[in-house]
Amino acid sequence: MKRIFSGIQPTGSVTLGNYLGAMKQFIDLQHEFDCFFCIVDQHAITVSQDRLELRKNVRSLAALYLAIGLDPDKNTIFIQSEVPAHAQAGWIMQCNAYIGELERMTQFKDKSAGKEGVSSGLLTYPPLMAADILLYGTDVVPVGDDQKQHIELTRDLAERFNKKYNDLFTIPEISLPKVGARIMSLQEPEKKMSKSDPNKKATIALLDEPKQIEKKIKSAVTDSEGIVKYDKENKPGVSNLLSIYSIFSNKSVQEIEEMYEGKGYGDFKAGLAEVVLGEIKPIQERYYELLESKELDDILDRGAEKANADANKMLRKMYNSIGLGRKR
Ligand code: AQP
Repeated sequence: MKRIFSGIQPTGSVTLGNYLGAMKQFIDLQHEFDCFFCIVDQHAITVSQDRLELRKNVRSLAALYLAIGLDPDKNTIFIQSEVPAHAQAGWIMQCNAYIGELERMTQFKDKSAGKEGVSSGLLTYPPLMAADILLYGTDVVPVGDDQKQHIELTRDLAERFNKKYNDLFTIPEISLPKVGARIMSLQEPEKKMSKSDPNKKATIALLDEPKQIEKKIKSAVTDSEGIVKYDKENKPGVSNLLSIYSIFSNKSVQEIEEMYEGKGYGDFKAGLAEVVLGEIKPIQERYYELLESKELDDILDRGAEKANADANKMLRKMYNSIGLGRKR
């Protein structure tokens, strides 16, 4: 059975961007693949995190993985820092990456721009991400569009390793959703929606109160034209809302445009809020039941055990390929 690996950083409240770009793919792919879904807490510390907040976010993300419908009996759900092979293999991948190629990563450039005291982890996190993926012989990585460059780097690093040492790694393919690969900010639709955006009106979190979600949709930036039409260049706000509407309603953008012909943005936004809440409310209910359950810890324990067994096997092969330690 082919393998999937993907991870989400516990860096705040999971947004509609994370859900539509990555998590919704997980729900579909779990039926066809052997899936490893990780909570990448070691990536989270590339920027400063509050200790208690980080722990809370890790648990919250685990509960959310289950609440959206990931089956713990089918999938391996685990926390990155509970599988030490990730950091160990990450070091090896780092030693095979060039500083120049890491400095070219747009996410590094965006997150470090104008900041002082940028952690070196922000620069070297893509090789850790490569290790996360390669440790499991991953065939496919479902992510949003912003991670495309990191997956390309992962492929380059895997090929470089295979050529330099021996053919150890599977070269993974990227899987992007057809619609929703890049959900944009509700307030600045030329910018992607992000967990860490300080402007909370710009993002919809999966765990926002329903009333809050309605309010955020109502105040989403559109334009003065009053026509519900997809035109990414001239109507980025409306186009973003149309993409979101299309995914939640399973209707094409064209069908939605026709539904709102001759109607204003008020009706369109009310319709959008209804379809979004129709899907999110049941997720929230399941989430709150799971959050405090002992079941959650058992699932994460089982996940860590399975992931450690697989990852350690690959790490041992990496050590033997390079000549690290004694032969075992
Ligand atoms: N706006 C987005 N549209 C579609 N997909 C998105 N993803 C993130 N934002 C969007 C996808 O969500 C997955 C998890 O992302 P991550 O937690 O690894 O970090 P990120 O890509 O940096 O996401 P954020 O929300 O912007 O986090 P912060 O603010 O902490 O940097 C990935 O598959 C990503 O592509």
